Amino acid sequence: MVVNMTPQEKLNHCYGSVKGKTGEFIPKVALILGSGLGALADEIEVVKTIDYSEIDSFPQSTVLGHKGRFVFGYVGEVPVVIMQGRVHFYEGYSMQDTVLPVRLMKKLGAEILFLTNAAGGISFGAGEFMLITDHISTFVPSPLIGANLDEFGLRFPDMSAVYDKELNRIIRATAESLGIKLREGVYAQTTGPNFETPAEVKMLSKLGVDAVGMSTACEAMVANHAGMRVCGISCISNLACGLSDNPLTHDEVMEAADLSAPMFKGLIKGAIKAM
Ligand code: HPA
Repeated sequence: MVVNMTPQEKLNHCYGSVKGKTGEFIPKVALILGSGLGALADEIEVVKTIDYSEIDSFPQSTVLGHKGRFVFGYVGEVPVVIMQGRVHFYEGYSMQDTVLPVRLMKKLGAEILFLTNAAGGISFGAGEFMLITDHISTFVPSPLIGANLDEFGLRFPDMSAVYDKELNRIIRATAESLGIKLREGVYAQTTGPNFETPAEVKMLSKLGVDAVGMSTACEAMVANHAGMRVCGISCISNLACGLSDNPLTHDEVMEAADLSAPMFKGLIKGAIKAM
């Protein structure tokens, strides 16, 4: 492991390592699979897999239910890179390390970032899918703090349309054709790893938040900064704290994700084929 690298140097280092293994393969869509949703990567035509542990200086995912590897391959005709498991800010990584994989996938050629997560429902219940139409990232530090990476984008990037309207149209149409009920709303990212208190959930509800989780907005932000087209779907794994009588557990999140996996996989694969 090389120590004391700047974020740009670390990114270049990881990119060199991955590019050396993937050669000519250029992904179009980068897909990040959230907690319990990783099984989709087992159903695609795989060209190459790279464990995060094989990439020197790459942040490692430590969460149960997050496998920790890149899967390169095809969904239909579309070349994709899938992150089977992501890294989170709450694991102790800096925000810049947390979003390094997104920038890496952009450098590999990905034009579209497709984000997924398991989230606590404020407007929606367990088992529902929510198309992310906008986000609130105010509760976590911006991943764009620090020297601007000019290679990707501007110092003061516009965030007025982070989630791409045309991609959202494709996702809605895919859901409709598969008979899947798709909700829509605003996702808020908190740092985690604790779930929210009932008072925090009440606050988020008043702020217009429909679903809450511990990822995604920071990734969407750097992707938008880098000029990628972004879309995202939350799988509501539980009612947010205080909206039901039961205490929350990570096991519950994983079980709910397992249950919705078949429909979820159909929706994601169908949408990617149309992108
Ligand atoms: N809160 C925050 N993150 C989550 C939740 C939640 O209720 N469920 C799954 N991820």
